[in-house]
Amino acid sequence: MRNSILEPAAWDLEFPDGARIRWMRAADLTGVAAIERDSYAQPWTSSSFRFEIERQANAIALVIEAKQVVRGYACAWWIEGVLQINNVTVAREARRCGYARRLLEALIAAVRRAGGSRIDLEVRPSNQAARALYRNLGFRSSGRRRGFYAHPREDALLLTRRFGKRGGEGLSSVPSD
Ligand SMILES: CC(C)(COP(=O)(O)OP(=O)(O)OC[C@H]1O[C@@H](n2cnc3c(N)ncnc32)[C@H](O)[C@@H]1OP(=O)(O)O)[C@@H](O)C(=O)NCCC(=O)NCCS
Repeated sequence: MRNSILEPAAWDLEFPDGARIRWMRAADLTGVAAIERDSYAQPWTSSSFRFEIERQANAIALVIEAKQVVRGYACAWWIEGVLQINNVTVAREARRCGYARRLLEALIAAVRRAGGSRIDLEVRPSNQAARALYRNLGFRSSGRRRGFYAHPREDALLLTRRFGKRGGEGLSSVPSD
């Protein structure tokens, strides 16, 4: 049986200010790909997002929208109780409005409910905005991948957020940064 964390229907969260988190759909791809191109030197293509929502059985692909406009998105894989976050991006004009925080808090809450053990992601050491975001949400440094990124070439910092056995907060055994 598929875990409900992977069910599109399980993802529909409304916020008091009218923002909404929901599963990414094909109609979102043009807008998502435009945000992606504006945000990265090596952007994912529209087809890569399409693959996530249509073909990748372990994928979670969420958007956050306000006034029916997609402001940001998050893509992750759920594999044996571990969530690997592969993409978190917010449209340039919508940054510092709490959209990324809300996406990540929703993912953290879902992993906790599902009894997951941890969330992993990679980040450029130079990406101060993302590192501050993740640090404030309890992610801690768990390693480094040499030369992981291109354009420009840079190592990746591995960040992990751990959960306790009963879904609570685990005492982190990884060094903090
Ligand atoms: C990183 C990114 C996703 C943050 O999205 P966002 O919606 O602007 O972030 P939020 O508004 O939810 O910020 C939450 C917290 O993160 C931290 N933060 C976010 N942007 C920051 C910045 N530019 N400088 C310092 N801290 C920042 C702050 O602690 C912030 O809380 P605060 O606003 O109360 O101070 C966004 O800047 C982005 O899309 N960047 C380009 C793509 C990218 O780098 N993605 C991450 C790859 S690992």
